[in-house]
Amino acid sequence: MPVTLKSQQQIEMLRAAGHLVRETFEMLRDYVRPGVTTAELDAIAEEFIRRHGAEPVYKGYIPPGHRTVRRGEPPFPPFPGSICASVNDVICHGIPSPRIKLRQGDIIGVDIGLRLNGWIGDACVTYPVGQVDARTQKLLETTQECLRRGIEQARPGNSLRDVGAAIQRHAESQGFSVVREYTGHGLGRNLHEEPTVLHYDEPKATLRLRPGMVFTIEPMVNAGKPGTKSDPDRWTVRTADGSRSAQFEHTIAITEDGPILLTV
Ligand code: MF3
Ligand code: CO
Repeated sequence: MPVTLKSQQQIEMLRAAGHLVRETFEMLRDYVRPGVTTAELDAIAEEFIRRHGAEPVYKGYIPPGHRTVRRGEPPFPPFPGSICASVNDVICHGIPSPRIKLRQGDIIGVDIGLRLNGWIGDACVTYPVGQVDARTQKLLETTQECLRRGIEQARPGNSLRDVGAAIQRHAESQGFSVVREYTGHGLGRNLHEEPTVLHYDEPKATLRLRPGMVFTIEPMVNAGKPGTKSDPDRWTVRTADGSRSAQFEHTIAITEDGPILLTV
């Protein structure tokens, strides 16, 4: 599948969706505190999204590669939440649950995807729950800085490789590691479009960036080793070594003058 270029008007539609994602984060921030469950955060976010005329796109989502059911194999379960809520060693795709209660010192990655007037917005933030230890604080700052450095490389003339390389270089310079199995992605009317955006240096990622391209950059940075493992629920992805993991994500559009953030 080729990468589609978005028009100025289409980018305005994506910007409106992205803006609502950011408003959802701002609303949710006050609820992220010790004692709240991730199911409560999910319900609060879903209500806010629907009240603003949008729909959560993760709810009921099945990854494209898992949509055909194979004989003798259980079907892949649709994602049950409206947000992903990924606590501590959960890298991404944490399923909201009434049994997962936040405690002082935790971190929680909240990933929000919604569709507004047919167009998608997608972003992720990792919040500290109260005061966190110094190494966790450094993990959060480093991951955010990885995202910033990746975005900085997203301009015409550069390739996708430049984005991934900048992210990996910074994460590893701070003693952390970058997850390989999950990536950023193009988006538009659909959550997942071309291109695939790697967060590490891949010589084959030669795609040249052009004005009108819209995609996410969403590095997942582990405090320990980069390996991942999935829970039996098939969604929740954890660090294989039990170390903490953080993620930040923006949706961006490439313009002649460089990247613009759509999820602000
Ligand atoms: N931001 C993630 C992504 O775009 C979240 C996907 S959650 C899912 O890949 F439920 F949609 F899979
Ligand atoms: Co995404």
